[in-house]
Amino acid sequence: MSRVAAKVSTAVKKILMVRPTHFEVVRYAINPWMDPVSKPVNRELAMAQWNTLRETIEEVGGEVHVMESSNAPDWPDIVFAANAATVRGNKAYLANFLHPERRGEREFYKAWFEANGFETCGRTDIAFEGAGDALWCGKNYSRLFAGVGPRTDIRALPDLAKQLDDGSGFKVVGCKLIDPRFYHIDVAFCPLSDELALWFPGAFDPVTQHNMKNEGVELVPVTAEDAGFFSCNAVVVGKNVIMNHTTTRVAKTIEKIGYNPIFIDMSEFIKAGGSSKCCTLQI
Ligand code: ARG
Repeated sequence: MSRVAAKVSTAVKKILMVRPTHFEVVRYAINPWMDPVSKPVNRELAMAQWNTLRETIEEVGGEVHVMESSNAPDWPDIVFAANAATVRGNKAYLANFLHPERRGEREFYKAWFEANGFETCGRTDIAFEGAGDALWCGKNYSRLFAGVGPRTDIRALPDLAKQLDDGSGFKVVGCKLIDPRFYHIDVAFCPLSDELALWFPGAFDPVTQHNMKNEGVELVPVTAEDAGFFSCNAVVVGKNVIMNHTTTRVAKTIEKIGYNPIFIDMSEFIKAGGSSKCCTLQI
């Protein structure tokens, strides 16, 4: 529960973050968390919270790469780097946002990936929202758990499998999301390792719950209350799990499975429907 790293992994985790220069919730609401009238963002506080997230990731051994967004004033949600793409090796399968309010982010992310040595791909005719809706887990990260329904179109899944195919034979597991508050898979499912994950089962339909249990991953449930604090939206670096403040129940759950919970304040980003993990993309 402290901000001190308990155990630091030796493998360096590279994480992309986008500076929230023009972050706001003013012009639109595209998920139930957003309310420009009664919940405006304090941008200064948002910047401070983002800096704390970045510093915390670095303190526990993560390597943060920052994409600037001062040239993207029309795209306030660009701070949610998780949605940029799904990355496998050197390939970035870019998002094609469902809502026009976010569609313009793609070209900025594309430019960043290409300037940083990644090959980019991804269709522009089928909705897909990057690592917000596609998380690697399962033995040796051989499964891509893909959220479908609210944002990502199920037809994106076969194309993801084809475009990201690296000969490893990974499998895409389609996961139907049914609760409007949990509109991306990364707010309801959080891999801690390739065989262990936190999840909020109620975000998924019953068939999906059944299927997710059969992919060789031990699923540790959090309650609806804790999921509402974005407890499944954590940045994992080694054994450290960085997330928004939540209950001591979550802290105990995480400690019991050998991980170190680190709580930070993500209040301003939650006003846009995202927390710590949403502000990051593993690259
Ligand atoms: N306001 C953003 C949206 O609705 C929040 C995105 C959160 N990102 C995430 N990976 N869950 O698209």
